[in-house]
Amino acid sequence: MTDQTRYLLSEADLPKFWYNVNADMPVPPAPVLNPMTLEPVTPDFLGVLFPMELILQEISAERYIQIPEEVREIYKLYRPTPLHRARRLEKTLGTTAHIYYKYEGASPAGSHKPNTAIAQAFYNKAAGTKALTTETGAGQWGSALSMAGKFFDIAVEVYMVKVSYNQKPYRRLLMETFGAQVFASPTDRTQYGRSVLAEDPNSPGSLGIAISEAVEVAATSGGAKKYSLGSVLNHVLMHQSVIGEEALKQMDMAGEYPDVVLGCVGGGSNFAGIAYPFLRENLRNGKRTRLVAVEPDATPSLTKGIYTFDYGDTAKMAPIVKMHTLGHNFVPPPIHAGGLRYHGMAPSVSALFDAGHIQAVAVPQLATFDAAVTFAQSEGIVPAPESAHAVRAAIDEALDAKAKGEKRIILFNLSGHGNFDMAAYQAYFSGKLEDYAYPKEAVEAALHQLPQVNLPA
Ligand SMILES: Cc1ncc(COP(=O)(O)O)c(C=O)c1O
Repeated sequence: MTDQTRYLLSEADLPKFWYNVNADMPVPPAPVLNPMTLEPVTPDFLGVLFPMELILQEISAERYIQIPEEVREIYKLYRPTPLHRARRLEKTLGTTAHIYYKYEGASPAGSHKPNTAIAQAFYNKAAGTKALTTETGAGQWGSALSMAGKFFDIAVEVYMVKVSYNQKPYRRLLMETFGAQVFASPTDRTQYGRSVLAEDPNSPGSLGIAISEAVEVAATSGGAKKYSLGSVLNHVLMHQSVIGEEALKQMDMAGEYPDVVLGCVGGGSNFAGIAYPFLRENLRNGKRTRLVAVEPDATPSLTKGIYTFDYGDTAKMAPIVKMHTLGHNFVPPPIHAGGLRYHGMAPSVSALFDAGHIQAVAVPQLATFDAAVTFAQSEGIVPAPESAHAVRAAIDEALDAKAKGEKRIILFNLSGHGNFDMAAYQAYFSGKLEDYAYPKEAVEAALHQLPQVNLPA
C-alpha cells in the first residue's frame, strides 16, 4: 500500500530477546569504578544497589538476552508500539524526504521508560526486594517505575527534582495514583539532602542531587530497598532495544531502510533503544545508516562535554564511569524547560561517539519548541519536550534533503507525549523561554572537580 500511515506489528511479533551492544562494541568498555576507592567496582558494591541479575546484565557480553515471559506479558499492554509515516508533516514541510517515527508515547506512562522499569521491577521482585528508590526529573521515569512497582507489588519511593515537583503536580499525582511516595528533592529525609538544604534552603534541586538521595536511602536500608536508575547504565539501554528491534521489522513492512536514525539524549537510553539495533546492522551487515544523538544546547554533554571518568551523582556515592560529562556538580539553568538535564551520558553512547560510530547535534530551545508545535499541528501528537529535540533534528534533516532535492529516509524516536508538560509549552507560548548555550568555560571549570583516577582518561 503506497499511502499507508501506520505500520503495526502483532503481539506475536513482540521481541523475545534484548540486544546487548556490548557483544559488538568496536571499542572496549572502560571499567566502572567505586567512588570511594577509585578502583574497579566489585559485585558486592553494586549488590547493595542492584539485584544480581541486573548486575550480570550490566557486564554481560552475550549478544542476545532472553526477555522473561512475565516481562513480555506486561509489555503486551502497549507493545509493539506503532511506527508512523509522518505524511502530514512531510506535506507541511514540502520535503522530498520520507519521515518515520516510532511512537513510544503509546505506553501507559507516556514514554519509553516502562521498557526498562518493568524489567527492573521484575528482577527486583525475583530477588526479594521490598522497595525501590529512584529519582525523577520531569517525571516520566518516576511514573514508569511507579507503575511497574505496583504491577510487581514493590513499594516505590521517588525523589523528584524540586523545581519539577512544583511545576508538574499532575506527574506527581500520576505516580501517587500508581501507589508511589513522591518527595521534593532536596529533602530532609537524607543526610545528603539536609546538607544541600543547609547550604541553600531554596535549592531547586538537580538530577544529580536526587540520585544521591535515592542512592543513600537504598544503601542505608540494610538490603530491604534497592535503587533503580532510568538511563545511563548498560542494562537500561539494553532493555530499550525492543524499540529498534520492532522498528527494523516495521521499516521492512514499509519497504524502506533509514538513511538516518535520530533520538534525543538525556542519559542515552531512548536513543540507544532505537539506534543500537541499526548500529548492529551497520557493524555486522554492511548497512550505513547515520545514527544521530540530539541534545539541548543547554546541556551539551556530547558536543561540549569532556570524555573522562566522572561521578554519576553530585554526592559522589554512585559509581564512577567514563563518559562525556559536564561535571557532576552541573545544575541546569532554570530557563531550560526540557527534561534532558543529566550531567553525563551513557558510557556506551560516549564511547561510540568518541570512536565516530554515532554523531551528535545540539539544538536550541526555542527552535525545539517551534518544531514541536509544527509536529503537533501536523501529526496531532504533542511531543514531550525531551522528544521535541529529536523532532527538531528530524525536521532539519527533512529540510536539508529538500534543499538538496534528495529522497532521504528519516527515522526518529518519539520517546514520549507531552500531555503532562503543558506548563513548558505555556512558558514557550508566553515568551518566557530563552535560548541558552552552556558555556565551554563552565565545562572547563568542572574539570577541576573530576575524580583523580589512575587510568587512561
Ligand atoms: C520522554 C523522554 N524522552 C527522553 C528522555 C531522556 O532520557 P534518555 O536519554 O534516557 O532516553 C526522557 C527523560 O526523562 C524522557 O522523559
